[in-house]
Amino acid sequence: MQFSEKGTIILAIESSCDETSASVCSDGKILSNFIANQKIHEQYGGVVPELASRAHMQNIVPVVDAAMKKAGCSHSDLSAIAFTQAPGLIGSLLVGTSFAKSLSLALNIPLIAVHHMQAHVLANLIPEDKPNFPFLCLTVSGGHTQIVLCDSPLKMKVLGETLDDAAGEAFDKSAKLLGLPYPGGPLIDQYAKNGDPKKFQFPEPQIPGLDFSFSGLKTSILYFLKDNKKKDPEFVDKNLPDICASIQDRIVSILLHKLKKAAITTGIKDVCIAGGVSANSALRKAFVELGQKMKWNTFIPAFEYCTDNAAMIAITAYYKLKHGDFSDLSVGPNARAEW
Ligand code: KG4
Ligand code: ZN
Repeated sequence: MQFSEKGTIILAIESSCDETSASVCSDGKILSNFIANQKIHEQYGGVVPELASRAHMQNIVPVVDAAMKKAGCSHSDLSAIAFTQAPGLIGSLLVGTSFAKSLSLALNIPLIAVHHMQAHVLANLIPEDKPNFPFLCLTVSGGHTQIVLCDSPLKMKVLGETLDDAAGEAFDKSAKLLGLPYPGGPLIDQYAKNGDPKKFQFPEPQIPGLDFSFSGLKTSILYFLKDNKKKDPEFVDKNLPDICASIQDRIVSILLHKLKKAAITTGIKDVCIAGGVSANSALRKAFVELGQKMKWNTFIPAFEYCTDNAAMIAITAYYKLKHGDFSDLSVGPNARAEW
């Protein structure tokens, strides 16, 4: 393996869903992180897989070039190339996988396959101030909601997860019911800033253990809106901030209730959040407040490392490289791989 005088340099690619991202890291320090968002899906109310793959193909070369340029690196500096292998949309994953395999072959450098959900957790290892092991992480994204026990960078166990919708889906589907465009999570966050979180009460599901469920909440919001719109067709327009704040408040309380239970059960005091929904301002605030009350050491990735990004792939690849955990060219994308 080549080690440049600039250190162990890894180029990482993320293309699991609708963001094309590239990042360069040197000895675990992020030098660049470029993300190209795909606006094309907004008009369809969700990610269209075929359009996502095509957009990745258009974006991948310019995004990688930008990340390499910002990091001040050339191809000859690279020690390894990493990519998101699973889970995600198969066509989207295929673009990043093929690109990484080609570069690995052309430059004769090792290939590192990364699991997207493991990478979300390890985004918490990007800053100088890192959690101590073992730590807990609430990972909340568009496709997953998990409480993960992390014993070491590469040793993780899922303690609880959603039985149906993910937290991000709960945000996005609620937003859709309110007539907001995709992805609605950040919009609910915005509208909620001017709303009363206790104005409307939505039920908390009674799920045993550390698992989650959000499908009942979605149904209760559907009927709540139907009933109120029958009485007043302009109900949503008149109450949008209060409705958004109340939905957000319930999603946050469901998440933190289980995280608190996990911390009490395990006795672990270093607690993190991660994933796209960890960009939510109410979750971040309530998490820090709960942490103060519970005397936890709390960790939240910077905004750019919460939603899908290649920096989290790069940091995970850095730990995999230290353990000699490489893939050969027979590796392919996997849409569903759990861990
Ligand atoms: O981790 P991520 O970027 O992609 C997946 O791996 O799924 O997460 C995307 C999810 C979407 O559901 C999006 O609506 C949600 O994260 N999200 C938010 C916020 N920012 C992103 N949800 C609530 N508030 C936000 N500020
Ligand atoms: Zn993600």
